Amino acid sequence: MLKYILLTFSLLAFANSGFGQGQKFFKDEDLMPVGVYYYPEAWPKSQWERDFKKMADMGFEFTHFAEFAWAFMEPEEGKYNFGWLDTAIAMAAKQNLKVILCTPTPTPPAWMITKYPDIAMTNREGVQLKHGTRAHASWSSEKYREFTTKIVAELGKRYGQDKRIWGWQLDNEPSHYNPEYDYSASAQAAYRLWLKDKYKELKTLNMAWGTSFWSQVYSDWAQIRIPNEKELVHGFNPHQMLDFKRFQADECASFLRMQQATLRKAVLPSQWITSNFMGYHYPVDQRRSRDLDIVTYTTYPVAGYAQGVGEQGFRMSNPFMIPWLSDFFRSINGSTGVMELQPGQVNWGRYNSQPMPGAVRMWLMSAFAGGCKFACAYRFRQPLSGSELYHYGMVGPDGVTASTGGLEYSQVCKEIKQLRKDFDPRAKMPDAYAKRKVALLYNSDNIWDVEFAKQSYQFSINGHIQRYYTALKQMGCPVDVLDETQDFSAYPTLVAPAYQLLDKNLVDRWKTYVEAGGNLVLTCRTAQKNRNGQLWEAKYQAPILDLIGAEINFFDMLPENQFAKVKVDGTEYQWNNWADVLTAKPGTEIWGTYADQYYAGKQAITHRKLGKGTVTYVGVDTDDGKLEKLILAKLLKERKIETDELPLGIYKEWRQGFWIACNYNSDPVSLGLATNTKFILGGNTLKPAEVAIWKQ
Ligand code: GAL
Repeated sequence: MLKYILLTFSLLAFANSGFGQGQKFFKDEDLMPVGVYYYPEAWPKSQWERDFKKMADMGFEFTHFAEFAWAFMEPEEGKYNFGWLDTAIAMAAKQNLKVILCTPTPTPPAWMITKYPDIAMTNREGVQLKHGTRAHASWSSEKYREFTTKIVAELGKRYGQDKRIWGWQLDNEPSHYNPEYDYSASAQAAYRLWLKDKYKELKTLNMAWGTSFWSQVYSDWAQIRIPNEKELVHGFNPHQMLDFKRFQADECASFLRMQQATLRKAVLPSQWITSNFMGYHYPVDQRRSRDLDIVTYTTYPVAGYAQGVGEQGFRMSNPFMIPWLSDFFRSINGSTGVMELQPGQVNWGRYNSQPMPGAVRMWLMSAFAGGCKFACAYRFRQPLSGSELYHYGMVGPDGVTASTGGLEYSQVCKEIKQLRKDFDPRAKMPDAYAKRKVALLYNSDNIWDVEFAKQSYQFSINGHIQRYYTALKQMGCPVDVLDETQDFSAYPTLVAPAYQLLDKNLVDRWKTYVEAGGNLVLTCRTAQKNRNGQLWEAKYQAPILDLIGAEINFFDMLPENQFAKVKVDGTEYQWNNWADVLTAKPGTEIWGTYADQYYAGKQAITHRKLGKGTVTYVGVDTDDGKLEKLILAKLLKERKIETDELPLGIYKEWRQGFWIACNYNSDPVSLGLATNTKFILGGNTLKPAEVAIWKQ
């Protein structure tokens, strides 16, 4: 049997993959300091002192400056002005506020774009973007990179040895937002270079892209363009598209790495460097930036996108949104923080409801539960001008009255200080909890490849992954989201949802993992293609057939208004997104069978023992995730891994000796804890958006 000495093993495993590199920057006993964004350049200097004092009075421990302040730092080409920033840092320090300083690269000044228009990206319609918003510069433009390196070096020179600076944020939410991708001449040239570097010879590229199809064969590198649906009649080359997505993700990562290298040379070893990524933004691959000291995220849970649990769920969001972000980002290299967290009502959502009273505090405590090293409110003052009017701050438009969100932040600032008193550095993860630790295997290639060749518009790979993640969290499992550069061998359970692209090496690793005692869960679409996104010249999903102990004969999907049935342990579940139809080999257990359609009686879910472990294959994707949860529960039960059955909407986690539970349900929920439980915050029954913290 696999030994569940999980902590030791996990730490060892991660030591090999750079996990934990950020630990040295943050003190365990600080738990999760809370800070807030401030834009000194946007407010009269005469108000700064008042504002910093208010921040400190509200309990904030740090502030955050300057990610959009390039025009103020370099008002003319090569002429720098940091006097205003010096003053702001000094005033913040006077109030004992540490400072996170940013590189201002999302907002090149007007003079720069006017003088060097090619710095701007080009959108898919072929329009070169102009000055006026942000995130519009091309990561591939040499000139932009030159200006970036200069301003970053200037910042490093001026503030790199300044102990009042706690850490650095590179850029802001690295992305191009809606235009998503850059089609500029610089990007086209960089894409060709990237391809040359990858393939060396055109004939290799032609093979990898299958260019014999529709006579796409390239005879000169210069003929290659970024695949752009606006330039093509229909049906772009999916292999070329996959490489383009990889290339753009690499461009983003290399742009950040360039800034990081420039800063690292100049700054104190105690100053950490990060960037603040969006979580569900797929044109970038956050995991490519694993060499940052800490990889942080931004999140706005209530913006008209998540229905949550029950009638009032839209005011609290999906219970596992912040947990997913924490688990995903923390697992990149061992440390995460939430750099931007919603302050209250925002202005840019599909619709902008008021969050449920208490929800802001609950989000902060969810971030705490997920291991965040710090949390930062976006932003201190509600703006009076610009495109974020109506966006709450910690104080309202008068600049002094705390908003409802501000009061909740202030409460959490105090509560974190209270929790510090209860911090026990010797606290160890409870055994039963460690045993149920799960690794979820993730690769952006799968997201990209499935998304542009979905087969059914109803198949959402993100939705599919979230169904497994949600089920695990509903059972109270701690989850690390890993990628192939990391070692999953010490996790009792490994889930690899819709792992469409792979190679023999990964399948061998899975096999070794299982033989040593691991429980592997694979799901539909896994192993359909090689790393170039081509099908195998073999049976469907050939690389995993021996491993799962079944043949996969074909896959099916239904119209959106028709549901078919799959039966597990006598209960029928509905599906319509995706069904892999299997034939189990002798010795493989059948856990689920199609109950209708012309293939009624054929297998949907299989399970087998291999060596000391197990392999479960779930070929069907449902909408409500109940089946997926049932299968995971059945597997963990069989393997004698104890789990919780948490009430709907409850997020529960352990961190540094504290148990935390948050109620995202629209109704009050009882946690069912022992009557002698020592609560530090809250109690056994939680109203909507309430939080309980206790020690065991
Ligand atoms: C974030 C962004 C911030 C600000 C905020 C408003 O996505 O990084 O700069 O625009 O949204 O909610």
